[in-house]
Amino acid sequence: MKPAYSRIAGTGRCLPEKILTNADLEKMVNTTDEWICSRTGIERRHIVAENETNLDLCEKAACNAMQAADVAAKDIDLVIVGTTTPDQIFPNMGCLLQRRLGIHACTAFSLEAACTGFIYALDIADKFIRSGSAKCALIVGGETLSRMTDWTDRSTCVLFGDGAGAVVLQASDEAGVLSTHLHADGQYADLLYFPSGVSKGFDDMKSGKDFIRMSGNEVFKVAVTKLGEIVTETLQANNMTADKLDWLIPHQANLRIIEATARKLKLPMERVILTVRDHGNTSTASVPMALDVAVRDGRIQRGQTLLLEAFGAGFTWGAALIRY
Ligand code: UT7
Repeated sequence: MKPAYSRIAGTGRCLPEKILTNADLEKMVNTTDEWICSRTGIERRHIVAENETNLDLCEKAACNAMQAADVAAKDIDLVIVGTTTPDQIFPNMGCLLQRRLGIHACTAFSLEAACTGFIYALDIADKFIRSGSAKCALIVGGETLSRMTDWTDRSTCVLFGDGAGAVVLQASDEAGVLSTHLHADGQYADLLYFPSGVSKGFDDMKSGKDFIRMSGNEVFKVAVTKLGEIVTETLQANNMTADKLDWLIPHQANLRIIEATARKLKLPMERVILTVRDHGNTSTASVPMALDVAVRDGRIQRGQTLLLEAFGAGFTWGAALIRY
């Protein structure tokens, strides 16, 4: 018999040891701690060491989630890694992670939906499980955006950080993932992008061309609108009002965007999980890392209702309502 639900069995995260503070950035570009804090809410971010890669972060996050879920490599029958910064083009990050963890022969792939990657992965894993195609999925969002950041561009380099977050999702008859909602609109592709790729060709990274480019202010406006719409869509799909939510776990790009979504829901900020101050924008890693922070510090309890949302390049955006 097919299970009624997929349910979060364990969470994990990994942040690189090295921390870059706003004071450090003041020495690198023409910026101030005051500007970064007031415009973004970010105070520090973690950055990978020279010999450290996204796969290292994903492996540690995955191990932590598997330990929390009390599952072994042999139990995992689906691996999905959301990322825009894979260690290599192929094999995909799912296969590379399989090898690190000793997981054999199950479906494994990576997907690229920018900051919404983890929500896309969650949606797909939930569908695999509810259709009976998988019983125990490992989903990871991992990113090393520092490797594609222009460290001389003050408009972007103050925003991003590295990290990985992971979740083990298991088949369950108890309520877990209640609904997922995915959207994308490629008409906005030129507002936030990395210009190069294998087929188009790469510029010399040192020429200053192959870096993240963002029209921040325009991205901001669309993000506020689309996130406002998607949290409403998610609640309506579940015949629910925001006062029944225990926690909002938003994509951590900018404190002002998060506050706008909370205002839309009339949700006090005490019920919003915030990591943007310490992590910066870690793209697809931000939601699973924020989830793990609040699970491990005891704020998120079994049986509570969580609303996850994210928005990123594409544009892509998505949300999930979860009974934890
Ligand atoms: O995760 C994927 C989705 N991404 C996002 O959601 C990011 C969305 N965008 C944002 O978070 C904000 O737009 C930013 C934080 C990127 C920028 O904040 P803003 O309030 O939109 O600032 P702005 O781009 O309109 O720039 C305002 C001023 C400009 O100076 P002038 O033209 O007014 O003189 C910028 O040159 O701030 C200047 N500026 C800076 N000043 C000090 C831009 N970056 C910096 C900086 N330090 N780091």
